[in-house]
Amino acid sequence: MSLSLPSGFLWGAATAAAQIEGAAHEDGKLDSIWDHFARTPGNIANNDALDPAVDHYHRMPADVALMRELGLDSYRFSVSWARVKPADGPANPLGLDFYSRLVDELLGAGILPWLTLYHWDLPQAVQEKGGWANRDTAQRFLDYATVVHDTLGDRVSHWTTFNEPFCSAYLGYASGEHAPGLTEPRSALATLHHQHLAHGLAVKELRARGTQQLGITLNLTNAVPDDPDDAADLDAARRIDALWNRAFLDPIFRGCYPDDLLADVAALDFVSLIHDGDLATIAQPLDFLGVNYYHDDNVSAHPLPADSPAGLRPTDKPGASPFVASEFVTFPPRALPLTAMGWEINAPGLTTLLVRLGDEYRGLPPMYVTENGSAWDDVVSLDGAVHDTERVAYLESHVQAVADAIAAGADVRGYFAWSLLDNFEWAWGYEKRFGIIRVDYETQQRTIKDSGHAFARLIHGSRSVAP
Ligand code: FCB
Repeated sequence: MSLSLPSGFLWGAATAAAQIEGAAHEDGKLDSIWDHFARTPGNIANNDALDPAVDHYHRMPADVALMRELGLDSYRFSVSWARVKPADGPANPLGLDFYSRLVDELLGAGILPWLTLYHWDLPQAVQEKGGWANRDTAQRFLDYATVVHDTLGDRVSHWTTFNEPFCSAYLGYASGEHAPGLTEPRSALATLHHQHLAHGLAVKELRARGTQQLGITLNLTNAVPDDPDDAADLDAARRIDALWNRAFLDPIFRGCYPDDLLADVAALDFVSLIHDGDLATIAQPLDFLGVNYYHDDNVSAHPLPADSPAGLRPTDKPGASPFVASEFVTFPPRALPLTAMGWEINAPGLTTLLVRLGDEYRGLPPMYVTENGSAWDDVVSLDGAVHDTERVAYLESHVQAVADAIAAGADVRGYFAWSLLDNFEWAWGYEKRFGIIRVDYETQQRTIKDSGHAFARLIHGSRSVAP
């Protein structure tokens, strides 16, 4: 495929510590909330555990060699808080050393390390002090961030505070399908605000230490009204947009929470969680916005037909309830193909989203698509290869959508495929495979899938045509 992308466009692949590392109790690491959550039967599909995952902790140099083989410019990974500051006490030198070796290995391979501080794996010891519902956790996050920066700040240039704080707030504390598995709407809003605060505190500190590339990664959607002429559908879409997008974008890029969101959640007394000065702390200037996109959402205020498949009722849609439970919100399926997650495939939605962000948030820093990908029921062929044609098509159409957004004026500087490797897909365990590299979970053998080869060709091709 031939693409028109700006020169210097950054190509990468992403992972997260809890999903790949394994070694859950090695070299001083203690439980994260995910290790703990996974131990309760029924929380994870097939009761899968996070350990050994894909054993990246022990196979890191070989995994970096695979990144090099693909021709990646950058690798987006996260640091496990529970590995580097396990019991909410002093730093763990052995844990820090793992990331130090990873960063050296990447730099030695000519790959830019793109570090995320928080990809959902809070130390269980911090959870036991109230987790993100406790305002003090923002200060603890700052302490953790400075410890990581003390060790890696000399070699890592790109720092992301949070990955998808939507999930850790709403899925962790409201719908309960992610760790810590709570269903407490007000705690979810407290988490939302305290994570923002933690982000602001860390950005301020890392900026003062001279870091030049600081950002956050958000999962954002187009909340599309099912019937744009129906006032109730329009209002349902507005609510979802407020809760899922603007609750994150506005405090960070405008220094305020949207008025309509405050009205929607007034019964939960959200405003009393916001202290004087918080919004100024949160709205630190950033150097990039990471955008994660898998699908967008068709929103309605009307019940679905009784024979609708499970997964479409309001309570089945992650994060939709309970904030919007008083207003009936449904997500009617469109005539779109689905991935193995049951997620609609809508590549043009990515173009719409990126263009909208640039248009609506004046002064927005450059954007990077920090996650995009698809799960499929991969099959290993007799020749040993994985001919994942659907994943190839998904990848190519979404990269094209990014190019279209750039052509329409959006400032997008890079694209990271999710994921480098098959891995532990949170509540879905190992059942859903997103990797462009297959992992045989019995032998830990890695095989580059057709999608990995297609991605490598795309990267190579775009370099040779770049002006
Ligand atoms: C995102 C997460 C990532 C992965 C993908 C499929 O929400 O950030 O860890 O699970 O979804």
